[in-house]
Amino acid sequence: MAALKHIPVNLIFYVYHMIIVIFSAHSSTGELRRLSQPTKPDGTVSFLVIGDWGRRGFYNQSQVALQMGDIGEKLDIDFVISTGDNFYDNGLTSFHDLLFQDSFTNIYTASSLQKPWYSVLGNHDYRGDARAQLSPMLRALDHRWFCMRSFIVNAEIVDFLFVDTTPFVDKYFIQPNKHVYDWRGVLPRQTYLNNLLKEVDVALKESLAKWKIVIGHHTIKSAGHHGNTIELEKHILPILQANEVDIYLNGHDHCLEHISSMDSKIQFMTSGGGSKAWKGGDVNYVNPQEMRFYYDGQGFMSVHVSEAELSVVFYDVFGHVLHHWKTYKDALYSAS
Ligand SMILES: *[C@@H]1O[C@H](CO)[C@@H](O)[C@H](O)[C@H]1NC(C)=O
Repeated sequence: MAALKHIPVNLIFYVYHMIIVIFSAHSSTGELRRLSQPTKPDGTVSFLVIGDWGRRGFYNQSQVALQMGDIGEKLDIDFVISTGDNFYDNGLTSFHDLLFQDSFTNIYTASSLQKPWYSVLGNHDYRGDARAQLSPMLRALDHRWFCMRSFIVNAEIVDFLFVDTTPFVDKYFIQPNKHVYDWRGVLPRQTYLNNLLKEVDVALKESLAKWKIVIGHHTIKSAGHHGNTIELEKHILPILQANEVDIYLNGHDHCLEHISSMDSKIQFMTSGGGSKAWKGGDVNYVNPQEMRFYYDGQGFMSVHVSEAELSVVFYDVFGHVLHHWKTYKDALYSAS
């Protein structure tokens, strides 16, 4: 280990990222790509979750970024998860689009945020050149950027399954209105969705991690402006229930919320407060016994996971704690 001291830190960082990049190269078709995320030496991981953000710093995006930097520092986070709608209003036009720098690189500048950003695409991202955001070329501009349609991040005690939810939503196909969606790589739609559902089920069944967290842009259950996404309730939720997923994380509704479920252990958490929010009064009904927390303004969330415990905290634009929640796993099973 002594030899490591003579190697510049940024070289180690570079090599480490190259390994991830090589790992993520498409191994075989029909199987989701897997990335390895190291845990801390004590086996735990900490991360932040942000959604619906890229607006050149406007609508409090910069204020949220500042607080993320502070909280990220305090928690010594290992990575950031983006729940999608990364660049407003219409994604990126190409991988030369300066919006990438203006809404990402030059906004999330804190040193604690210089970690991998695992991102999915949202519906707004599909209105631009969706493939630009997925291009590894962007990683040359900013090493943090790991955006894929659907993929797995394995962090030993926890498996993260990122699911491309936009193609599930009928209205983008049936009534796109004035919007043009970039469906290259998604058509024929039914084949794409059938394969994805199979891959999601297989990935969850094969997961040996203690905790399972699934991430998608769209809501499954939400009290916000968009409410529940019926296509996901129908097709994704049963798979999550059958495989005992702990948390479903999403954006899409520009709010922060936590909904428990009466018929499963899944917690539904929305982190969609990365920039424009405040849809005041536009709240859908959710069973009050299931509704744990709802905040219509900007903010983000943090998650800390150990083998036995998972804790979640929601913050507003001032970094104030709005809501926290904790759950435990039976220590009996920890021997596996
Ligand atoms: C920014 O955040 C503050 C505090 O929550 C809020 O009062 C204000 O309306 C927000 N500004 C915008 C443009 O959303």
